[in-house]
Amino acid sequence: MDNIIHNETIDLILSRRTVRSYTKEKLTEEEINTLLACAMWAPSARNKQPNVVRVVADEKTLDEINTDFKNTVGWDTPAYTRWDVNPVYQGAPALFVIFADHKANMDGGIMVENIAIAAKALGLDSCIIGSLGALMDHENGKKWKKYMGVDENWEFVISVAVGHGAESPEPKTRNEKEFRAV
Ligand SMILES: Cc1cc2nc3c(=O)[nH]c(=O)nc-3n(C[C@H](O)[C@H](O)[C@H](O)COP(=O)(O)O)c2cc1C
Repeated sequence: MDNIIHNETIDLILSRRTVRSYTKEKLTEEEINTLLACAMWAPSARNKQPNVVRVVADEKTLDEINTDFKNTVGWDTPAYTRWDVNPVYQGAPALFVIFADHKANMDGGIMVENIAIAAKALGLDSCIIGSLGALMDHENGKKWKKYMGVDENWEFVISVAVGHGAESPEPKTRNEKEFRAV
C-alpha cells in the first residue's frame, strides 16, 4: 500500500510474519512477563476481562501436549500447517494459551495480537495457533486445563507460540483492493 506513514510501531506491525521454526533458546522471565503484561492490558468488551493466559515453557510438557493432540486429532491428519513435520506448538520454547469463562473470541483475538506484536518488539517471533482447541476443548483437554489451573468448563480461545525465529518467511499476499477508503 502506497503513501503510508512509517514509524517503529507501524513497521513492527507490518513486518510480523507467522514463524514455524525456532531455535532452542528459551524466553527469559522478563520477556515472558512483558508479554503477559501486554496481554493483560488488551482492551475487552465492557471491560469484562473474560480471558486468562497461561504460559507453558517447558519442552517436556509441550511435547506431551503435542503427543496428546496427535492422539486425539490424528497422526496423519493435516490439522495445521506443517502438521507432518512440526509439533502443534511449532517447536517454539513457549506457548501462551488463552482461555475464557465464556465465549470471548473477539477479546481473545485482540489479546493474542498484542502478544504477537509485543513479541516482535522484543526481537522474538510468533505463530498464532487455533488448532490446539481440538485438544483443549476435547474431553482429553480437561487434564491440561487442570494442569494450567483453569476450570475444566472454561473454553480454549486461542494460543500463540513465541520464540527466537529460525526462518524468515516471505510475506503472504493480501487482498489489497479490499482495504480502501470509500
Ligand atoms: C485465529 C488464527 C488461528 C491460527 N491457527 C494456526 C494454527 O493452528 N497453526 C498454524 O501453523 N498457524 C495458524 N495460524 C497462522 C496463520 O496460518 C497465518 O497467520 C496466516 O497464514 C498468515 O500468515 P502471516 O501471519 O505470516 O501473515 C493462525 C492464525 C490465526 C489468526
